[in-house]
Amino acid sequence: MENFIYHSPTKFIFGKDTECTVAEQIHALGGTRVLVHYGSASAVRSGLLDRILSCLDAAGLPHIELGGVKPNPRDSLVYKGIALGRKENIDFILAVGGGSVIDSSKAIGLGLAYEGDFWDFYSQKAVPKATIPVGSVLTIAAAGSESSNAAVITQEKTMLKRALNYEILRPRFAILNPELTYTLPPYQTASGAVDIMAHILERYISDTTGVEFTDRLCEGTVLTVMSELPKVLKNPFDYDGRANLMFAAALSHNNIFGVGRVQDWASHKMEHELSGLYDVAHGAGLAVMMPAWMLNVYQHNLDRFCQFAVRVFGKSPSEDKDTLAKAGIEELRSFFRSVGMPVSFREIGAKREDIPLLVEKTLTGTGGTVGSFVPLNAALLTKCFETAANFDHE
Ligand code: NZQ
Ligand code: ZN
Repeated sequence: MENFIYHSPTKFIFGKDTECTVAEQIHALGGTRVLVHYGSASAVRSGLLDRILSCLDAAGLPHIELGGVKPNPRDSLVYKGIALGRKENIDFILAVGGGSVIDSSKAIGLGLAYEGDFWDFYSQKAVPKATIPVGSVLTIAAAGSESSNAAVITQEKTMLKRALNYEILRPRFAILNPELTYTLPPYQTASGAVDIMAHILERYISDTTGVEFTDRLCEGTVLTVMSELPKVLKNPFDYDGRANLMFAAALSHNNIFGVGRVQDWASHKMEHELSGLYDVAHGAGLAVMMPAWMLNVYQHNLDRFCQFAVRVFGKSPSEDKDTLAKAGIEELRSFFRSVGMPVSFREIGAKREDIPLLVEKTLTGTGGTVGSFVPLNAALLTKCFETAANFDHE
């Protein structure tokens, strides 16, 4: 196990009706003028937004609203939020929604605390020093942005989707009421669950040894997601199922599972270009891309993939490590298929002829490779995308 510092300061307020505490949380953090940021329709349709605004009104907290965040959030709305925030002297941002709304809020927070163009941070021209604080009322168990140090934004003119990772990006609080996820369509529920699993596996597939404790946390959480997801797909109002997914999402990307080990993240980088280019749900893109990546790298550390197959999918240990490792990857794909996720390029609208563009975008702003388990150069990235395209012919 490698040395590490773990500091995840997001306060979790978990359970039924917890969104009612929102004004109290903001007051406690010194917020006096709140930008309430939300998505396209769900928070309005469910009545959640009205309830939140009433709570702020009742507490005498001035607020201004900005809706319209699209999945795979765009820079144009971030610029709008920064301009609005400046005009209204905003000192706190409340995200009501999922990863896209939270990421858009984080980017607005950075922009409000910076005189230049917020994209400078994404294009690595500048390093953020400060932000306006962000808190969230989460409505989907998925990206983990509610306690992560990341914010992913797509630049519209280039369709480049870029992630930023800085500790100041961790939200100050996350209100986690599983009931708020009852209205999610099955596809979004499943897509979110795949993202949770991918956040764990990006950390789990590692050459670092001596990490049994976090290995077991990873394996146990993947098993939990695989047992709870089918339950909530069958009964969307299964409170405990939703609750377990929600807490798993919040922890799976705040790095508790990743401490002390080298992490990979190549699948995420490839997927970000898929969702940037085709506007596919992030988790759905991962359901295609992560197994494609695995099939191209598993021979680098057969023992690690065999452990995954045995401990997560209950495969029998075998001398034939190659077959065992591949069986684990195939089980993962079968699970994705069983919960209605796409498992081929075609199903997410991706095209083989775009592979050179996808490779170019994935490598933009890197030193020529992505990932660390097996550093992927242009040739290896091409192979991963081609494997995903070959899934079309199964
Ligand atoms: O916009 P509305 O109408 O709210 O609809 C959303 C959206 O269409 C809908 N939805 C959310 N809560 C709902 C609901 N519909 C009904 N009932 C509810 N309770 O679900 C759709 C997806 O929402 P989105 O916020 O996009 O989902 P998610 O949380 O999966 O976020 C995805 C974004 O986060 C990024 C992804 O790349 C993607 O852009 N990620 C952010 C990370 C981070 N900041 O740490 C890490 C991740 O790896 C990921 O890259
Ligand atoms: Zn993700």
